[in-house]
Amino acid sequence: MTQRSDAVVFFGATGDLARKKLFPALYKLASRGHLGVPVIGVARSDWDDTTLRQRAADSVREVVKGVDEGVLSGLLECLTYVSGDYGDPATHAHLAEKLADAQTPVIYLAIPPDIFPAVIGGLQEAGLAARSRLVVEKPFGRDLASARELNALLSDAFDQSNIFRIDHYLGKEAVEGLLAFRFANSFLEPLWNRRYVESVQVTLAEGFGTEGRAGFFDNVGTVRDVLQNHLLQTVALLTMEPPISDDADAYRDEEVKVLRQCLPLDPATTVLGQYVGYLDEQGVREASQTETFVATQLTIDSWRWAGVPFYLRAGKYMPGAATEAVVVLRRPPRMLFAGADAMVPNANRFHFRLGHADGVTLAVQAKVPGARTVTREVELNVDFEQALGERREAYERLIDDAMSGERHRFAREDTINEEWRIVDPILDPGERPVPYYKRTWGPTDAEALPGADGWYDVTTR
Ligand code: BG6
Repeated sequence: MTQRSDAVVFFGATGDLARKKLFPALYKLASRGHLGVPVIGVARSDWDDTTLRQRAADSVREVVKGVDEGVLSGLLECLTYVSGDYGDPATHAHLAEKLADAQTPVIYLAIPPDIFPAVIGGLQEAGLAARSRLVVEKPFGRDLASARELNALLSDAFDQSNIFRIDHYLGKEAVEGLLAFRFANSFLEPLWNRRYVESVQVTLAEGFGTEGRAGFFDNVGTVRDVLQNHLLQTVALLTMEPPISDDADAYRDEEVKVLRQCLPLDPATTVLGQYVGYLDEQGVREASQTETFVATQLTIDSWRWAGVPFYLRAGKYMPGAATEAVVVLRRPPRMLFAGADAMVPNANRFHFRLGHADGVTLAVQAKVPGARTVTREVELNVDFEQALGERREAYERLIDDAMSGERHRFAREDTINEEWRIVDPILDPGERPVPYYKRTWGPTDAEALPGADGWYDVTTR
């Protein structure tokens, strides 16, 4: 049996990810009795155990509703801090001392990728790499070449089975649920192909801007931040063939197979945008060309999907937050019920809500009461939380998985390489993205991308 990790270390303990996601996730794990091990934060700031505990407590109280103070103080007691430069052997030696009794620690790198080499080298030197599980945040590299280099660096130090590449979308119940919805129900599979599917739209919209993360974001941009990973993973789960078994590699074999069949994105069918006001934000470089919005058309040149356009868009400062995949079916061959004066009815659609109010809506036509036979769109809707109960947050599930050595919900090296190959032609085009106003759906050209029907409405909050 795989041994459960007996310590958790996270580099970047004073950072934004730790504050927003990792401390709340650790609290949740503790509240379920799944933690109970030493947790060590590492960072450069001159903090001590007390400062880190204070930060952790603030972050949990900010994010979690109805905090159980007993659980929180239990978590804080497990928490200690190592301060030091990431490249300094003394930092790693101090960490190794603290981990003297740990057999299989999880080491989570919530730090910018340019610091990875120093940290990996330090962990190796301190004799920690050989017995640890390493969790690496996305984006994994900046392009295909740097992702390969990073993989080589990690594989030198860690066994592949101990490298956990995070794409937290894989940890979202609703995203994972796409596969279950497709393959646990027999009604869908006959429709799930080029004969019945007209097009697919996937939206990842955020209602806010860089929120104090401009320093990180301006070096990354929307394509690297969410398209290369979250959106392409979502497409892979929507389109892949059934895995041959429940094994983690069987899943990823199918994922990578469909990604291999995706053509590289074409700049001619891509719109990059930047919201007006971005350049004035603190942390953004002068005249920065970083995109805060992307809309693009993806082609999957496979037997099942040839000819079906996939429209993907992601952006900051949209009219609301939404993560939604809309699968649009072909219209019936004859419009029997749309009298000469009536509008052509909308196509049937599956709306998968993946970010909030998780669930699925099927938009169908039904007869309007009265003498004439005309139809109107109605919705068959399921809210998963209402129907299925509480759902655990992605980061909590992923830390739990890494502690158990469970790899289903982590990305594999070849998957990430394929994702970089697909986005490569639209990285760093060397010109200013098209400006758009805050709280719009991006530049006008993007609105026109999916053709006459446009983008279907998504549920925003
Ligand atoms: C992260 C990105 O990976 O995903 C953020 O770095 C983005 O910029 C976030 O806001 C979106 O995730 P979620 O879970 O809020 O949809």
